[in-house]
Amino acid sequence: MSRSLKLTALALAAVFVRFIMKNAALASVPKHIDHFSKFSPSPLSMKQFLDFGSNNACEKTSFVFLRQELPVRLSNIMKEINLLPDKLLTTPSVKMVQGWYVQSLMEILEFLDTNPDDYKVLGEFVDALVTIRNRHNDVVPTMAQGIIEYKETFPQDPVTNQNIQYFLDRFYMSRISIRMLINQHSLIFDGNTNPVHPNTIGSIDPHCQVSDVIQGQYLTLFDCNLDVFCSPNAILFCLACKKKKQPISIVYVPSHLYHMLFELFKNAMRATIETHENSNELPLIQVLVSLGGEDMSIKVSDRGGGVPFRRIDNLFSYMYSTAPAPEIGEHSRPPLAGFGYGLPISRLYAKYFQGDLQLYSMEGYGTDAVIYLKALSTDSVERLPVYNKTTLKNYKVRQEADDWCIPSKEPLDLSNFKAAK
Ligand SMILES: Nc1ncnc2c1ncn2[C@@H]1O[C@H](COP(=O)(O)OP(=O)(O)OP(=O)(O)O)[C@@H](O)[C@H]1O
Ligand SMILES: *[C@@H]1O[C@H](CO)[C@@H](O)[C@H](O)[C@H]1NC(C)=O
Ligand SMILES: [Mg+2]
Repeated sequence: MSRSLKLTALALAAVFVRFIMKNAALASVPKHIDHFSKFSPSPLSMKQFLDFGSNNACEKTSFVFLRQELPVRLSNIMKEINLLPDKLLTTPSVKMVQGWYVQSLMEILEFLDTNPDDYKVLGEFVDALVTIRNRHNDVVPTMAQGIIEYKETFPQDPVTNQNIQYFLDRFYMSRISIRMLINQHSLIFDGNTNPVHPNTIGSIDPHCQVSDVIQGQYLTLFDCNLDVFCSPNAILFCLACKKKKQPISIVYVPSHLYHMLFELFKNAMRATIETHENSNELPLIQVLVSLGGEDMSIKVSDRGGGVPFRRIDNLFSYMYSTAPAPEIGEHSRPPLAGFGYGLPISRLYAKYFQGDLQLYSMEGYGTDAVIYLKALSTDSVERLPVYNKTTLKNYKVRQEADDWCIPSKEPLDLSNFKAAK
């Protein structure tokens, strides 16, 4: 055999061996998912997140925690993906997302029997986390694409719709939490301090000034300044009044707050502009921030004509969203994507640390959107989905049969009831 032929044969053999090994690893994936999905995820409190990143932060501890906790969170939600209707599971988009989850799970499992005292291992772990985070950047638009493919091909029924809504809320919540863990570890232990925000701990700001986030929003959206009015425990932002601002701050993830406010401002602005198309002056969008003993609430009020009460629930639905599909790719990322996911995803961010987001609308006038967050960092604990028998049951729940009359379209002819004289 010539030398080059021999080399080719060797290379082919190597490719073949790698192929076999990769498939062997893949074959063992369901076993790993079964194993790790038996554990419940461990929700962390804001305080625990801060402790992981404080002066005595220990990269080794964080590493040992994550190489168990990440597979647990991934496996719990991967089990739940399998409960989706087959027709949705087999869309190319959902298959692609599933592939990313399998790949990422395998990459983390490789660290299970490595030595936490080896600083090289710790470095490789940070690199692996960054790779995983980037791989999952487009999960939301890709899942949304899957839903669109499904909706186009199959007739919808209310039970399936309800299950998909239930699943996506849990799936996206799980994703928010996994990204939070990855971000904290990779930001804290990549060896650099954050040059822009030196006081943040990973992505958490222990003194997140809500007014700064709001002002930042206004500046990017309106390209103008705003003045602030305040009473003892509340700040009212509007463009007209002039008073000193009182800083209200909480321990929070500024990027999450930013995301929610951005979506609410976008909606409020669109509604305002569309309902006042023909007038010279637009009514103000007002923001009220209020701090109590338990809650920190932010209300965004617009006079954009409101939404009929009947439609409010649907605004949070992934299935009923009417927005046309935007293109997926490097340069079209949420929050500007426009999938009609602005409200449901923002509500998940609020719920993630035990808060909520609600809409109070008066059709004909305008809408108040309120974000409720926990004022105390001890109350801010991750809210995580867990996969167990209860989950299975929740997917089987049938819709309650209706036992209320349907009003007839024709007015009832009461003359039939007239007693004969
Ligand atoms: N402040 C508001 N006033 C009137 N209608 C609103 C308001 N906020 C939301 N809506 C209605 O709710 C729908 C859903 O809002 P959502 O933010 O979830 O999606 P979107 O704005 O359509 O798309 P995206 O936010 O993804 O770009 C909107 O299309 C709009 O019809
Ligand atoms: C599932 O987990 C939740 C939360 O831990 C728990 O409340 C529930 O009882 C569990 N269900 C079953 C059937 O184990
Ligand atoms: Mg929106």
